Amino acid sequence: MATYDVAGRSAIVTGAASGIGRSIALTLAASGAAVVVADLRTEAAQTVVDEITAAGGTAIPFAGDVSDPGVATAMVAAASELAPLGIAVNNAGIGGAAAPVGDYPIESWQKVIEINLNAVFYGLRAQLPVMAENGGGAIINMASVLGSVGIPMSSAYVTAKHGVVGMTKNAALEYGDRKVRVNAVGPGFIHTPLVDANLDAEAQAGLAAQHALGRLGTPEEVASLVAFLASDAASFITGSYHLVDGGYAAH
Ligand code: NAI
Repeated sequence: MATYDVAGRSAIVTGAASGIGRSIALTLAASGAAVVVADLRTEAAQTVVDEITAAGGTAIPFAGDVSDPGVATAMVAAASELAPLGIAVNNAGIGGAAAPVGDYPIESWQKVIEINLNAVFYGLRAQLPVMAENGGGAIINMASVLGSVGIPMSSAYVTAKHGVVGMTKNAALEYGDRKVRVNAVGPGFIHTPLVDANLDAEAQAGLAAQHALGRLGTPEEVASLVAFLASDAASFITGSYHLVDGGYAAH
């Protein structure tokens, strides 16, 4: 596991009970941050906290739905109890229905936009002023390679992820003078429970072939980039969108 020094600060990681978020929480904790492991799923979040604690790190579980703006504020308060809030990773996300735009179910559209886009705004809105007050910080918003290109049948997801990239740029422009860095990360297809839930083995093999490296990525490969961006090693990096996509977008 790649580590960077992020000691002396707390970190919020949403969607941290599974997949990419879990790996980010483990990596940030191993790098010295006190981590709020936030997720809808209480038991699974506690399991990640137990893993962190067993490895000598500091973490607490936080059960809540990121699409509730009050939860965003409560997560900041919980993190601030551990140590000054210095890192937030707005990672929680869902896939949504598979349908062309003309048939896309309204309910699924609204849910995907609420969780994958609006919740990132709720998070930033709560995190930015506190980090500015603390003298700086680093926020990483989980976009996707689908934050810069489309893919048929996933308009809500693609729209939300493009929106996350734009929101990231604006927040960076608005808070750079107060030393808060805001970046977006764009993973290619990563082998996680989300991918297993939405794609069968044949579909996964087809997608693997679309990456120059000929495979799906791992959560750890995304977590390495996030930990770097969260650390002072990335002190001149803000407002940008960083692919970790095995060459998917190189076409
Ligand atoms: P995952 O399904 O393994 O984990 C997502 C976690 O978010 C789950 O633990 C789930 O309980 C939690 N969650 C879902 N809705 C929530 C809500 N409303 N409030 C709080 N927690 C909630 O998914 P994965 O693959 O780790 O994805 C994480 C992020 O990475 C998502 O934003 C996803 O869009 C993004 N991503 C994933 C890629 C992939 O290929 N797996 C590729 C590019 C981006």
